[in-house]
Amino acid sequence: MIDIVLFAAFPYMAVLVAVLVGVYRYFNDRFSYSSFSSQFLENRALFWGSVSWHYAVIVILLAHVLALVFSGGWATLIAAPVRLYTLEVIGLALSASALLGLVLLILRRLLNARIFTVTSTMDWVLLAALLAQVVLGLWTALFYRWGSDWSLATVAPWLVSLAKLSPQTELVASLPWVVKLHMLGGFAIIALFPFTRLVHLVTFPITYLWRPYQVVVWNWRKKQT
Ligand code: HEM
Repeated sequence: MIDIVLFAAFPYMAVLVAVLVGVYRYFNDRFSYSSFSSQFLENRALFWGSVSWHYAVIVILLAHVLALVFSGGWATLIAAPVRLYTLEVIGLALSASALLGLVLLILRRLLNARIFTVTSTMDWVLLAALLAQVVLGLWTALFYRWGSDWSLATVAPWLVSLAKLSPQTELVASLPWVVKLHMLGGFAIIALFPFTRLVHLVTFPITYLWRPYQVVVWNWRKKQT
């Protein structure tokens, strides 16, 4: 029963909350999406934290998606041990970079009084969720070895079953709790999307493609001739 709640009901609820609240806020409360920028307050910690976090997490999430969408190709890729080890080492290095970057971004908000002031409760919730998610992912990679392999027969088909609207929770029922928490964390972060600054991922820069041109109206008085 608990498996059905956590690995069938919760993922759908998370996606539903993300879509409904996201659409609602887009039409009713659009300008509240802009979060307080802290960039002009200081720049160095922001640069190192932001670069190590963003580049690493983008590649890691891309690898998650590729392994899921092309699981056949991914299985062939990691079939040779040397390629599996290489990918895992790259994964670990990227995870370390993401963790370091995130810790820097958190410390910067904690230690600088002015930046602390412009940090909302939701910013803290998001930062804590991301930190927990990266630690759980790293933990999985380190202590439940070769996740890029065993996840192809467990996590990937479970996600596919969710997408097909016929959840097969038995596929993930016997995984260790750390791994389960990492999976649930992924959906919790999806649910947090419309409540936090994560929404920048879907609003920027895509809307520039269909947004009307900005019209600048000069309001100077005409020269008297
Ligand atoms: C439902 C969503 C998610 C699922 C099912 C999932 C699943 C997994 C699995 C099975 C692994 C082990 C891979 C391995 O051992 O090589 C892993 C690793 C990892 N995940 Fe996720 N994940 C999800 C979302 C996320 C998110 C949102 C983040 C970051 C914000 C994240 C960050 C990581 C990190 C840093 C690792 C360690 C990678 C490595 O060192 O190889 N995951 N994830």
